[in-house]
Amino acid sequence: MEKFIVKGEVQLSGNVRISGAKNATLPIMAATLLCSGISVIHDVPYLRDIQAMQDILILLGAKIRMQGHTMLIDTSNVSKVEIPEHLMREMRASVFLMGPLLGRFRKVRLSYPGGCAIGPRPINLHIKALEKIGAIVDESFGFIDAEAKELTGGEINFDFPSVGATENAMMAAALARGTTIIRNAAREPEIVDLQAILNKMGAKINGAGTDTIRVDGVARLVPAEHTVMSDRIEAGTFLTAGVMTRGDIVVENVVPEYLFSVTDKLQDIGAKIITGKDYIRIKAGELRGVDIKTLPYPGFPTDLQAPMLSLVTIAKGTSIITETIFENRFKHVDELTRMGAKIKVEGRTAIIRGVAKLTGAIVAAPDLRAGSALVLAALAAEGTSEIEQVYHIERGYESIDKKLQALGANIVKV
Ligand code: EPZ
Repeated sequence: MEKFIVKGEVQLSGNVRISGAKNATLPIMAATLLCSGISVIHDVPYLRDIQAMQDILILLGAKIRMQGHTMLIDTSNVSKVEIPEHLMREMRASVFLMGPLLGRFRKVRLSYPGGCAIGPRPINLHIKALEKIGAIVDESFGFIDAEAKELTGGEINFDFPSVGATENAMMAAALARGTTIIRNAAREPEIVDLQAILNKMGAKINGAGTDTIRVDGVARLVPAEHTVMSDRIEAGTFLTAGVMTRGDIVVENVVPEYLFSVTDKLQDIGAKIITGKDYIRIKAGELRGVDIKTLPYPGFPTDLQAPMLSLVTIAKGTSIITETIFENRFKHVDELTRMGAKIKVEGRTAIIRGVAKLTGAIVAAPDLRAGSALVLAALAAEGTSEIEQVYHIERGYESIDKKLQALGANIVKV
Protein backbone atom coordinates (compact mmCIF):
# COMPACT_ATOMS: atom_id res chain seq x y z
CA MET A 1 0.00 0.00 0.00
CA GLU A 2 1.38 3.39 -0.96
CA LYS A 3 2.31 5.94 1.67
CA PHE A 4 3.61 9.51 1.88
CA ILE A 5 6.96 10.26 3.54
CA VAL A 6 7.03 13.89 4.67
CA LYS A 7 9.93 15.87 6.15
CA GLY A 8 8.34 18.71 8.10
CA GLU A 9 9.15 22.34 8.92
CA VAL A 10 9.29 23.55 5.31
CA GLN A 11 7.53 26.88 4.66
CA LEU A 12 5.34 26.49 1.56
CA SER A 13 5.61 29.23 -1.04
CA GLY A 14 4.46 29.80 -4.60
CA ASN A 15 1.29 29.37 -6.65
CA VAL A 16 -0.95 26.32 -7.00
CA ARG A 17 -3.78 25.89 -9.53
CA ILE A 18 -6.88 24.33 -7.98
CA SER A 19 -8.48 21.42 -9.89
CA GLY A 20 -12.13 20.93 -10.84
CA ALA A 21 -14.46 20.13 -7.94
CA LYS A 22 -15.02 16.45 -7.06
CA ASN A 23 -18.40 17.26 -5.51
CA ALA A 24 -19.59 19.10 -8.61
CA THR A 25 -18.21 16.55 -11.11
CA LEU A 26 -19.91 13.53 -9.50
CA PRO A 27 -23.54 14.78 -9.75
CA ILE A 28 -22.80 16.31 -13.17
CA MET A 29 -21.58 12.92 -14.46
CA ALA A 30 -24.79 11.36 -13.11
CA ALA A 31 -26.89 14.10 -14.76
CA THR A 32 -25.64 13.11 -18.25
CA LEU A 33 -27.79 9.95 -17.86
CA LEU A 34 -30.86 12.18 -18.20
CA CYS A 35 -30.29 12.48 -21.95
CA SER A 36 -29.07 10.37 -24.85
CA GLY A 37 -25.93 11.48 -26.69
CA ILE A 38 -22.43 12.81 -26.02
CA SER A 39 -21.95 15.35 -23.20
CA VAL A 40 -18.59 17.10 -22.79
CA ILE A 41 -17.29 18.02 -19.31
CA HIS A 42 -14.11 20.10 -18.96
CA ASP A 43 -11.72 20.40 -15.98
CA VAL A 44 -12.61 16.97 -14.60
CA PRO A 45 -10.13 16.10 -11.80
CA TYR A 46 -8.19 12.81 -11.86
CA LEU A 47 -9.57 11.24 -8.67
CA ARG A 48 -10.45 7.75 -7.46
CA ASP A 49 -14.04 8.80 -6.83
CA ILE A 50 -14.37 10.04 -10.43
CA GLN A 51 -12.96 6.73 -11.66
CA ALA A 52 -15.52 4.89 -9.51
CA MET A 53 -18.39 6.91 -11.01
CA GLN A 54 -16.98 6.26 -14.49
CA ASP A 55 -16.99 2.51 -13.78
CA ILE A 56 -20.65 2.64 -12.78
CA LEU A 57 -21.73 4.70 -15.82
CA ILE A 58 -19.84 2.32 -18.13
CA LEU A 59 -21.50 -0.66 -16.48
CA LEU A 60 -24.89 0.97 -17.12
CA GLY A 61 -23.98 1.19 -20.82
CA ALA A 62 -22.31 4.59 -21.20
CA LYS A 63 -19.13 5.06 -23.22
CA ILE A 64 -16.56 7.42 -21.68
CA ARG A 65 -13.44 8.93 -23.21
CA MET A 66 -10.91 11.24 -21.53
CA GLN A 67 -8.97 13.85 -23.51
CA GLY A 68 -6.69 15.41 -20.87
CA HIS A 69 -9.08 16.80 -18.24
CA THR A 70 -12.02 16.72 -20.67
CA MET A 71 -14.48 13.84 -20.27
CA LEU A 72 -16.79 12.81 -23.12
CA ILE A 73 -19.76 10.73 -21.92
CA ASP A 74 -21.92 9.00 -24.55
CA THR A 75 -25.15 7.87 -22.89
CA SER A 76 -26.89 6.75 -26.12
CA ASN A 77 -26.68 3.06 -25.23
CA VAL A 78 -27.42 3.28 -21.53
CA SER A 79 -30.07 0.66 -20.82
CA LYS A 80 -29.35 -0.83 -17.41
CA VAL A 81 -30.98 0.63 -14.31
CA GLU A 82 -29.38 -1.54 -11.64
CA ILE A 83 -26.22 -0.53 -9.79
CA PRO A 84 -24.35 -3.57 -8.45
CA GLU A 85 -23.66 -3.87 -4.75
CA HIS A 86 -19.86 -3.80 -4.96
CA LEU A 87 -19.88 -0.51 -6.84
CA MET A 88 -22.46 1.00 -4.46
CA ARG A 89 -20.24 0.08 -1.54
CA GLU A 90 -17.22 1.59 -3.23
CA MET A 91 -18.70 5.06 -3.30
CA ARG A 92 -21.58 6.65 -1.49
CA ALA A 93 -22.03 9.23 -4.25
CA SER A 94 -23.57 6.52 -6.46
CA VAL A 95 -26.80 7.47 -4.69
CA PHE A 96 -26.82 10.46 -7.09
CA LEU A 97 -27.78 8.00 -9.83
CA MET A 98 -31.28 7.49 -8.40
CA GLY A 99 -32.64 10.77 -9.71
CA PRO A 100 -31.30 10.55 -13.26
CA LEU A 101 -32.21 6.88 -13.76
CA LEU A 102 -35.70 7.50 -12.41
CA GLY A 103 -35.98 10.60 -14.56
CA ARG A 104 -34.98 8.89 -17.79
CA PHE A 105 -36.11 5.26 -17.31
CA ARG A 106 -38.69 5.68 -14.54
CA LYS A 107 -36.92 2.83 -12.72
CA VAL A 108 -33.79 2.25 -10.64
CA ARG A 109 -32.47 -0.51 -8.40
CA LEU A 110 -29.52 -0.05 -6.07
CA SER A 111 -28.22 -1.56 -2.88
CA TYR A 112 -28.08 0.53 0.26
CA PRO A 113 -25.07 2.84 -0.02
CA GLY A 114 -22.54 1.65 2.52
CA GLY A 115 -22.02 3.85 5.55
CA CYS A 116 -18.55 5.26 5.55
CA ALA A 117 -15.87 6.30 7.97
CA ILE A 118 -17.62 9.57 8.86
CA GLY A 119 -20.86 8.01 9.99
CA PRO A 120 -24.05 6.26 8.85
CA ARG A 121 -25.19 7.82 5.60
CA PRO A 122 -28.99 7.43 5.51
CA ILE A 123 -30.84 8.31 2.33
CA ASN A 124 -34.31 8.87 3.78
CA LEU A 125 -34.39 12.46 2.49
CA HIS A 126 -33.52 11.28 -1.04
CA ILE A 127 -36.32 8.70 -0.96
CA LYS A 128 -38.90 11.11 0.50
CA ALA A 129 -38.11 13.66 -2.22
CA LEU A 130 -38.51 11.12 -5.04
CA GLU A 131 -41.76 9.82 -3.53
CA LYS A 132 -43.11 13.39 -3.53
CA ILE A 133 -42.87 13.47 -7.33
CA GLY A 134 -44.44 10.07 -7.90
CA ALA A 135 -41.82 7.38 -7.23
CA ILE A 136 -42.90 4.18 -5.50
CA VAL A 137 -39.94 3.06 -3.39
CA ASP A 138 -39.50 -0.40 -1.91
CA GLU A 139 -36.63 -0.97 0.51
CA SER A 140 -36.10 -4.62 1.30
CA PHE A 141 -33.35 -7.21 1.45
CA GLY A 142 -30.74 -4.43 1.43
CA PHE A 143 -31.95 -3.16 -1.93
CA ILE A 144 -33.88 -0.08 -2.94
CA ASP A 145 -36.27 -0.39 -5.87
CA ALA A 146 -37.78 2.84 -7.12
CA GLU A 147 -40.31 3.02 -9.94
CA ALA A 148 -42.66 5.65 -11.31
CA LYS A 149 -45.41 5.20 -13.90
CA GLU A 150 -45.39 8.94 -14.20
CA LEU A 151 -43.21 11.61 -12.54
CA THR A 152 -45.32 14.63 -11.65
CA GLY A 153 -44.22 17.93 -10.17
CA GLY A 154 -44.66 18.23 -6.40
CA GLU A 155 -43.76 20.12 -3.25
CA ILE A 156 -40.58 18.84 -1.54
CA ASN A 157 -39.68 20.16 1.89
CA PHE A 158 -36.36 18.92 3.31
CA ASP A 159 -36.07 18.43 7.10
CA PHE A 160 -32.35 19.05 6.56
CA PRO A 161 -30.69 20.82 3.59
CA SER A 162 -29.09 17.63 2.24
CA VAL A 163 -26.71 18.28 -0.68
CA GLY A 164 -27.19 14.92 -2.35
CA ALA A 165 -30.93 14.79 -1.82
CA THR A 166 -31.31 18.30 -3.29
CA GLU A 167 -29.30 17.20 -6.34
CA ASN A 168 -31.26 13.98 -6.78
CA ALA A 169 -34.56 15.89 -6.55
CA MET A 170 -33.44 18.46 -9.16
CA MET A 171 -32.37 15.75 -11.61
CA ALA A 172 -35.54 13.64 -11.29
CA ALA A 173 -37.87 16.68 -11.33
CA ALA A 174 -36.21 18.03 -14.50
CA LEU A 175 -38.12 15.37 -16.53
CA ALA A 176 -41.31 15.32 -14.42
CA ARG A 177 -44.60 16.61 -15.76
CA GLY A 178 -45.33 19.98 -14.15
CA THR A 179 -43.54 22.12 -11.59
CA THR A 180 -41.60 20.98 -8.52
CA ILE A 181 -40.72 23.33 -5.66
CA ILE A 182 -37.84 22.23 -3.40
CA ARG A 183 -37.83 24.01 -0.03
CA ASN A 184 -35.05 24.06 2.56
CA ALA A 185 -32.79 23.05 -0.31
CA ALA A 186 -29.02 22.85 0.21
CA ARG A 187 -27.32 26.04 -1.02
CA GLU A 188 -23.82 24.70 -1.82
CA PRO A 189 -22.07 26.16 -4.93
CA GLU A 190 -21.91 22.65 -6.42
CA ILE A 191 -25.70 22.77 -6.68
CA VAL A 192 -25.47 26.01 -8.66
CA ASP A 193 -23.03 24.23 -11.00
CA LEU A 194 -25.44 21.31 -11.43
CA GLN A 195 -28.30 23.71 -12.23
CA ALA A 196 -26.06 25.35 -14.85
CA ILE A 197 -25.43 22.17 -16.83
CA LEU A 198 -29.03 20.93 -16.43
CA ASN A 199 -30.30 24.20 -17.92
CA LYS A 200 -27.77 23.86 -20.77
CA MET A 201 -29.35 20.41 -21.35
CA GLY A 202 -32.76 22.08 -21.72
CA ALA A 203 -34.05 21.90 -18.15
CA LYS A 204 -35.90 24.85 -16.62
CA ILE A 205 -34.48 25.25 -13.09
CA ASN A 206 -34.15 28.40 -10.98
CA GLY A 207 -33.06 29.19 -7.45
CA ALA A 208 -30.00 26.96 -6.96
CA GLY A 209 -27.84 28.61 -4.31
CA THR A 210 -30.91 29.71 -2.38
CA ASP A 211 -33.09 27.61 -0.08
CA THR A 212 -35.93 27.36 -2.62
CA ILE A 213 -35.45 25.77 -6.04
CA ARG A 214 -38.14 25.75 -8.74
CA VAL A 215 -38.05 23.05 -11.45
CA ASP A 216 -40.44 23.30 -14.43
CA GLY A 217 -40.35 19.79 -15.90
CA VAL A 218 -39.69 19.30 -19.63
CA ALA A 219 -40.28 16.34 -21.96
CA ARG A 220 -36.64 15.65 -22.83
CA LEU A 221 -33.10 16.85 -22.31
CA VAL A 222 -30.17 16.98 -24.71
CA PRO A 223 -26.40 16.59 -24.24
CA ALA A 224 -24.41 19.68 -23.19
CA GLU A 225 -20.87 20.98 -22.73
CA HIS A 226 -19.77 22.36 -19.35
CA THR A 227 -16.66 23.35 -17.41
CA VAL A 228 -16.77 22.16 -13.81
CA MET A 229 -16.33 24.78 -11.05
CA SER A 230 -13.07 24.60 -9.10
CA ASP A 231 -12.78 22.65 -5.88
CA ARG A 232 -13.34 25.01 -2.93
CA ILE A 233 -12.41 22.24 -0.48
CA GLU A 234 -9.07 21.58 -2.17
CA ALA A 235 -8.47 25.36 -2.19
CA GLY A 236 -9.29 25.63 1.53
CA THR A 237 -6.98 22.70 2.27
CA PHE A 238 -4.04 24.40 0.51
CA LEU A 239 -4.75 27.75 2.18
CA THR A 240 -4.68 25.97 5.55
CA ALA A 241 -1.39 24.29 4.60
CA GLY A 242 0.09 27.70 3.76
CA VAL A 243 -0.79 29.03 7.22
CA MET A 244 0.23 25.88 9.07
CA THR A 245 3.73 25.89 7.53
CA ARG A 246 4.07 29.65 8.13
CA GLY A 247 4.42 30.09 4.39
CA ASP A 248 3.17 32.43 1.68
CA ILE A 249 1.11 30.85 -1.10
CA VAL A 250 -1.41 31.76 -3.80
CA VAL A 251 -4.28 29.43 -4.76
CA GLU A 252 -5.42 30.13 -8.34
CA ASN A 253 -8.63 29.29 -10.25
CA VAL A 254 -10.92 29.89 -7.25
CA VAL A 255 -14.14 31.83 -6.53
CA PRO A 256 -13.18 33.73 -3.34
CA GLU A 257 -16.85 34.26 -2.42
CA TYR A 258 -17.29 30.48 -2.09
CA LEU A 259 -14.50 30.38 0.49
CA PHE A 260 -15.56 33.37 2.58
CA SER A 261 -16.39 31.42 5.76
CA VAL A 262 -12.98 29.72 5.52
CA THR A 263 -10.81 32.80 4.79
CA ASP A 264 -12.70 34.71 7.49
CA LYS A 265 -11.81 31.99 10.03
CA LEU A 266 -8.18 31.83 8.82
CA GLN A 267 -7.92 35.60 9.42
CA ASP A 268 -9.29 35.11 12.95
CA ILE A 269 -6.50 32.55 13.46
CA GLY A 270 -3.96 35.17 12.38
CA ALA A 271 -3.40 34.70 8.64
CA LYS A 272 -3.06 37.63 6.25
CA ILE A 273 -5.30 37.25 3.19
CA ILE A 274 -5.18 39.09 -0.13
CA THR A 275 -8.13 38.27 -2.42
CA GLY A 276 -8.14 38.78 -6.20
CA LYS A 277 -10.80 38.04 -8.84
CA ASP A 278 -9.89 34.35 -9.15
CA TYR A 279 -7.07 33.84 -6.64
CA ILE A 280 -6.40 34.11 -2.91
CA ARG A 281 -2.96 34.79 -1.40
CA ILE A 282 -2.33 33.77 2.19
CA LYS A 283 0.55 34.60 4.51
CA ALA A 284 0.98 33.21 7.99
CA GLY A 285 0.94 35.32 11.14
CA GLU A 286 1.03 34.58 14.85
CA LEU A 287 -1.46 31.69 15.25
CA ARG A 288 -4.15 31.97 17.91
CA GLY A 289 -6.93 29.49 18.72
CA VAL A 290 -10.50 29.96 17.46
CA ASP A 291 -13.90 28.30 17.82
CA ILE A 292 -15.42 26.65 14.72
CA LYS A 293 -18.84 25.15 14.14
CA THR A 294 -19.53 23.33 10.86
CA LEU A 295 -22.81 24.25 9.15
CA PRO A 296 -24.54 23.84 5.79
CA TYR A 297 -23.34 26.37 3.19
CA PRO A 298 -22.70 29.28 3.54
CA GLY A 299 -21.57 28.24 7.03
CA PHE A 300 -18.16 26.72 7.70
CA PRO A 301 -17.86 23.56 5.53
CA THR A 302 -17.67 20.19 7.28
CA ASP A 303 -15.16 19.02 4.65
CA LEU A 304 -12.60 21.52 6.00
CA GLN A 305 -13.15 20.72 9.67
CA ALA A 306 -10.31 18.18 9.77
CA PRO A 307 -7.67 20.41 8.08
CA MET A 308 -8.62 23.33 10.34
CA LEU A 309 -8.50 21.15 13.45
CA SER A 310 -5.00 20.18 12.40
CA LEU A 311 -4.05 23.87 12.13
CA VAL A 312 -5.32 24.87 15.56
CA THR A 313 -3.29 22.12 17.26
CA ILE A 314 -0.33 24.55 16.95
CA ALA A 315 -2.25 27.79 17.57
CA LYS A 316 -1.85 29.64 20.88
CA GLY A 317 -4.63 28.98 23.39
CA THR A 318 -7.66 26.70 23.31
CA SER A 319 -9.93 26.03 20.32
CA ILE A 320 -13.36 24.41 20.33
CA ILE A 321 -14.51 22.69 17.14
CA THR A 322 -18.09 21.43 16.80
CA GLU A 323 -19.04 19.08 13.95
CA THR A 324 -22.80 19.46 13.39
CA ILE A 325 -23.12 17.73 9.99
CA PHE A 326 -21.70 14.21 10.44
CA GLU A 327 -21.79 11.94 13.48
CA ASN A 328 -18.30 10.59 13.44
CA ARG A 329 -15.92 12.96 11.76
CA PHE A 330 -13.06 13.15 14.28
CA LYS A 331 -11.09 10.11 13.06
CA HIS A 332 -8.05 12.40 12.56
CA VAL A 333 -7.86 13.17 16.31
CA ASP A 334 -6.22 9.91 17.42
CA GLU A 335 -3.62 10.20 14.66
CA LEU A 336 -2.88 13.86 15.48
CA THR A 337 -2.47 12.87 19.14
CA ARG A 338 0.33 10.52 18.07
CA MET A 339 2.04 13.62 16.66
CA GLY A 340 1.84 15.42 20.01
CA ALA A 341 -1.46 17.28 19.64
CA LYS A 342 -3.51 17.88 22.80
CA ILE A 343 -7.15 17.14 21.90
CA LYS A 344 -10.19 15.98 23.87
CA VAL A 345 -13.32 14.81 22.04
CA GLU A 346 -16.74 14.89 23.71
CA GLY A 347 -19.47 13.76 21.31
CA ARG A 348 -19.53 16.19 18.41
CA THR A 349 -17.13 18.64 20.03
CA ALA A 350 -13.32 18.63 20.07
CA ILE A 351 -11.37 20.78 22.55
CA ILE A 352 -7.85 21.52 21.34
CA ARG A 353 -5.11 23.01 23.51
CA GLY A 354 -2.42 24.51 21.28
CA VAL A 355 1.13 23.14 21.54
CA ALA A 356 4.32 24.83 20.32
CA LYS A 357 5.09 22.14 17.77
CA LEU A 358 3.95 18.73 16.49
CA THR A 359 6.47 15.92 16.03
CA GLY A 360 6.63 13.54 13.09
CA ALA A 361 5.16 10.04 13.50
CA ILE A 362 3.86 7.05 11.56
CA VAL A 363 0.12 7.64 11.04
CA ALA A 364 -2.65 6.22 8.83
CA ALA A 365 -5.28 8.17 6.88
CA PRO A 366 -8.67 6.96 8.21
CA ASP A 367 -10.76 8.77 5.55
CA LEU A 368 -10.42 11.42 2.84
CA ARG A 369 -10.48 14.66 4.81
CA ALA A 370 -8.86 13.24 7.95
CA GLY A 371 -6.06 12.09 5.64
CA SER A 372 -5.56 15.61 4.32
CA ALA A 373 -5.38 16.86 7.91
CA LEU A 374 -2.52 14.44 8.58
CA VAL A 375 -0.63 15.69 5.51
CA LEU A 376 -0.90 19.25 6.83
CA ALA A 377 0.26 18.19 10.29
CA ALA A 378 3.25 16.32 8.80
CA LEU A 379 4.24 19.39 6.73
CA ALA A 380 4.43 21.49 9.91
CA ALA A 381 5.81 18.86 12.31
CA GLU A 382 9.42 18.58 13.44
CA GLY A 383 11.06 15.55 11.85
CA THR A 384 9.74 12.95 9.46
CA SER A 385 6.25 11.45 9.20
CA GLU A 386 4.87 8.48 7.30
CA ILE A 387 1.22 8.66 6.23
CA GLU A 388 -0.23 5.27 5.29
CA GLN A 389 -3.42 4.47 3.33
CA VAL A 390 -2.98 7.44 0.97
CA TYR A 391 -5.65 5.96 -1.32
CA HIS A 392 -8.18 7.67 0.94
CA ILE A 393 -6.55 11.04 0.22
CA GLU A 394 -6.36 10.40 -3.53
CA ARG A 395 -10.15 9.98 -3.60
CA GLY A 396 -10.47 13.75 -3.34
CA TYR A 397 -7.13 15.48 -4.01
CA GLU A 398 -5.55 15.29 -7.48
CA SER A 399 -1.74 14.80 -7.29
CA ILE A 400 -1.59 16.38 -3.83
CA ASP A 401 2.05 15.25 -3.41
CA LYS A 402 3.13 16.84 -6.71
CA LYS A 403 1.25 20.07 -5.98
CA LEU A 404 2.87 20.29 -2.54
CA GLN A 405 6.34 19.50 -3.97
CA ALA A 406 5.85 22.43 -6.38
CA LEU A 407 5.25 24.63 -3.30
CA GLY A 408 8.52 23.45 -1.76
CA ALA A 409 7.26 20.62 0.47
CA ASN A 410 9.48 17.65 1.11
CA ILE A 411 6.92 14.89 0.38
CA VAL A 412 7.30 11.68 -1.62
CA LYS A 413 4.92 8.82 -2.35
CA VAL A 414 6.43 5.31 -1.94
C1 EPZ B 1 -22.12 15.88 0.19
O1 EPZ B 1 -22.42 14.64 0.80
C2 EPZ B 1 -20.63 15.82 -0.12
N1 EPZ B 1 -20.36 14.71 -1.03
C3 EPZ B 1 -19.84 15.61 1.18
O2 EPZ B 1 -18.45 15.62 0.86
C4 EPZ B 1 -20.14 16.79 2.10
O3 EPZ B 1 -19.48 16.60 3.32
C5 EPZ B 1 -21.65 16.88 2.35
O4 EPZ B 1 -22.35 16.98 1.07
C6 EPZ B 1 -22.03 18.08 3.20
O5 EPZ B 1 -21.59 19.25 2.59
C7 EPZ B 1 -20.61 14.86 -2.35
O6 EPZ B 1 -21.11 15.89 -2.79
C8 EPZ B 1 -20.26 13.70 -3.23
P1 EPZ B 1 -25.68 15.53 2.92
P2 EPZ B 1 -23.97 14.23 1.07
O7 EPZ B 1 -26.75 14.73 2.28
O8 EPZ B 1 -24.82 14.70 -0.05
C9 EPZ B 1 -27.63 13.44 6.68
C10 EPZ B 1 -16.23 14.86 0.90
O9 EPZ B 1 -15.40 14.74 1.81
N2 EPZ B 1 -28.58 12.86 5.72
O10 EPZ B 1 -25.75 17.03 2.88
O11 EPZ B 1 -24.00 12.80 1.44
C11 EPZ B 1 -26.26 12.79 6.54
O12 EPZ B 1 -26.22 11.60 7.29
C12 EPZ B 1 -17.67 14.44 1.11
O13 EPZ B 1 -15.97 15.33 -0.25
C13 EPZ B 1 -29.70 12.21 6.19
O14 EPZ B 1 -29.91 12.09 7.40
O15 EPZ B 1 -24.25 15.12 2.36
C14 EPZ B 1 -25.32 13.83 7.09
O16 EPZ B 1 -25.31 13.73 8.50
C15 EPZ B 1 -17.91 13.86 2.51
N3 EPZ B 1 -30.57 11.66 5.31
C16 EPZ B 1 -26.00 15.14 6.70
O17 EPZ B 1 -27.35 14.82 6.38
C17 EPZ B 1 -30.38 11.77 3.95
O18 EPZ B 1 -31.23 11.26 3.18
C18 EPZ B 1 -25.32 15.80 5.49
O19 EPZ B 1 -25.53 14.98 4.43
C19 EPZ B 1 -29.23 12.44 3.48
C20 EPZ B 1 -28.35 12.99 4.39
